[in-house]
Amino acid sequence: MTEYFLAPSIIAADFANIAADVAAIQSAGADWIHVDVMDGHFVPTLTVGPLFVESLKRVAAIPLDVHLMVSEPEKHIEAFAKAGANNLTVHVETCPNLPAMVEKIKSLGCAAGVTLNPATPASSLDSVLPLVDLVLVMSVVPGYSGQKFMPEMVTKVAEIRNKLNALRSPARLEVDGGINAETLLLMKNAGADVFVTGSAAFKHPNGAFEGVRTLKQIAVG
Ligand code: DX5
Ligand code: ZN
Repeated sequence: MTEYFLAPSIIAADFANIAADVAAIQSAGADWIHVDVMDGHFVPTLTVGPLFVESLKRVAAIPLDVHLMVSEPEKHIEAFAKAGANNLTVHVETCPNLPAMVEKIKSLGCAAGVTLNPATPASSLDSVLPLVDLVLVMSVVPGYSGQKFMPEMVTKVAEIRNKLNALRSPARLEVDGGINAETLLLMKNAGADVFVTGSAAFKHPNGAFEGVRTLKQIAVG
């Protein structure tokens, strides 16, 4: 039976009250904390680095799911592994030798994830699908929280789910970008089993606890 995970994205949290936000989402049933690392180069925005991950690790009881939206990730993966990342996910667009990158991440003791921009075809993952622990499908162009879900990505998730099934791969299939109560179900039906959610969780009118609780219920229901 599939186990469904909810991974709230910490970049939508209040950084001045991060420990309280972490406690709230954990008690509401969050399974992983998704950390969006943006370098101002691969994507226009700048967010957080290993120092932040290290602090987060001290207050988090659940795994840290680190999404690296950075150019030349090979320069940074070791620092994120040391800072306490459990999952390290890199963009295929940033890795000339994807299989070597996946092996390097595993050698650092992390689960290895690969992700692709909406414009990048699912076939770009073919060389590493048998090796990865996690595939992340972006359902927005990465760079900002709060963007509109791209419905065309539902078929991409279904396509990757078929490929993983054909390989009998136990890898997780995660989706990220514009996930709310409605789009979560579309992605779940297409075969996703981990749901990243930024604004729908943290900007819920009744607070992050309620946002996570509601979405987790939909994910597992
Ligand atoms: C997009 C990030 C996402 C995003 C999620 O660049 O990778 O994780 O912050 O936020 P929402 O759920 O608001 O789209
Ligand atoms: Zn992300």
